[in-house]
Amino acid sequence: MTNLKPAIKPRVIKTRHFTLRPYRESDASSIAAHINDKTIARNLLSVPHPYRLADAYDWLRKVRNAARRKNPTWVNFAIEIDGEAVGGIGIFKIEGHKAEIGYWLARPYWGRGIMTLVVREIAGFAFVELGLRRIYAHVFTFNRASMRVLEKAGFKLEGKLAKNVKKGDRFLDEYIFARVR
Ligand SMILES: CC(C)(COP(=O)(O)OP(=O)(O)OC[C@H]1O[C@@H](n2cnc3c(N)ncnc32)[C@H](O)[C@@H]1OP(=O)(O)O)[C@@H](O)C(=O)NCCC(=O)NCCS
Repeated sequence: MTNLKPAIKPRVIKTRHFTLRPYRESDASSIAAHINDKTIARNLLSVPHPYRLADAYDWLRKVRNAARRKNPTWVNFAIEIDGEAVGGIGIFKIEGHKAEIGYWLARPYWGRGIMTLVVREIAGFAFVELGLRRIYAHVFTFNRASMRVLEKAGFKLEGKLAKNVKKGDRFLDEYIFARVR
């Protein structure tokens, strides 16, 4: 019997509030404009600030290269609202039954419950379409909004990872949250 692997690639997921879809080269300027925000950069491990158009093109190239790999370990979606890419979400480090989730949203859209819905959609996609059994997230210990999103999306706090990452010249503590199926 053929051992069919699930297709590790994004598809279009439309909801009443947003569309999740593969990135396009034409998203670069909108991504650069929206992610160029100190608070967003502060809460993510490797987003530069200031963020330039060239950084967005670099990101889109990485997404493209990752998708072309024989065994992709990333699946990325742009979050589109009103016809514009205003955020992103990805499943990263896919290793067998588990993977990490990461996301950001442009500031004008915060506090409306959007990211909670997005995380629920993508967790569903990862469990059902990628066949994963564990999705985890690492959150800086000062990122209360993201912890709340994860809780609302059914993730459980598993513990604290002391000095788990180095960002610039600082070692940062993270919480690890996970949802399993
Ligand atoms: C984290 C982020 C994705 C949240 O998106 P969002 O669409 O505003 O999230 P939601 O509206 O679904 O939920 C946010 C929750 O956090 C709460 N919240 C916001 N700021 C908070 C704070 N400083 N302290 C405690 N709770 C906070 C909100 O009240 C809401 O909870 P509630 O529904 O119980 O009231 C967005 O702020 C963001 O992009 N931040 C920068 C990047 C980032 O942190 N990415 C995640 C890295 S792990």
